[in-house]
Amino acid sequence: MKGVILAGGLGTRLHPLTKITNKHLLPVYSKPMIYYPIECLVRAGITDIMIVTGGNSAGDFIRLLENGEEFGLGRLHYAYQKGEGGIAAALALARDFVEGDKVCVVLGDNILERSIRPAVEAFQRQKAGAKVLLKSVPNPRAYGIAEVEGGRIVRIIEKPDVPASDLAVIGVYMYEPGVFEVIKTLRPSARGELEITDVNNHYAAAGTMTYEPVQGWWADAGESIDSWLDACRLVAAGGANLTG
Ligand code: G1P
Repeated sequence: MKGVILAGGLGTRLHPLTKITNKHLLPVYSKPMIYYPIECLVRAGITDIMIVTGGNSAGDFIRLLENGEEFGLGRLHYAYQKGEGGIAAALALARDFVEGDKVCVVLGDNILERSIRPAVEAFQRQKAGAKVLLKSVPNPRAYGIAEVEGGRIVRIIEKPDVPASDLAVIGVYMYEPGVFEVIKTLRPSARGELEITDVNNHYAAAGTMTYEPVQGWWADAGESIDSWLDACRLVAAGGANLTG
């Protein structure tokens, strides 16, 4: 399975910290934010990794990460996203890299305490479709929220005004190779982006989406300055990706 880390965007929710650099290069406690999703994939056994970034600080990723030696990797792959096309448009840039393989996508600001290896291994055995990870949250209006019926996700609503549950779809998504054909069918949302939630709803409607609950804590370090501070505190208190 290939790994793709999405680390673009303007990071406007973290202004002014992100006025002169990319959100994913900001520190979260002792390390740059982008270190955590890389460690997450490596600990899950995924070592073929592409980082999709954009904006003015793109070159800093290469200076910081080089060929991934610090993570035990022989090389890293990079792609550049022009403009603000959305998460699904960023993923589309990894098409040639993924090349017929399954893919685990991690948003560059998501940090997990525990390894995602069990979910990755379960998806290796899944014949087709997609898998997402769900976490109960106190502020469901800030996330993609899953409606679960009879053990299945029937629908995901992006940042709902009236949430059907408190189950956030976190920024770790696993897809069959056909995901790039699904992205081609998407239309831009009201905010002019190709939404990952629309990709996920394709699989939910087809009945081929599975899910796992997140074990341990999860932090979306880029959601707001408060969530960034929470992420720093959680990492400081217990480390991240350190337990199995
Ligand atoms: C994105 C997704 C959302 C998901 C969240 C997790 O939102 O659109 O569905 O719940 O990541 O971090 P964003 O943080 O880009 O607003």
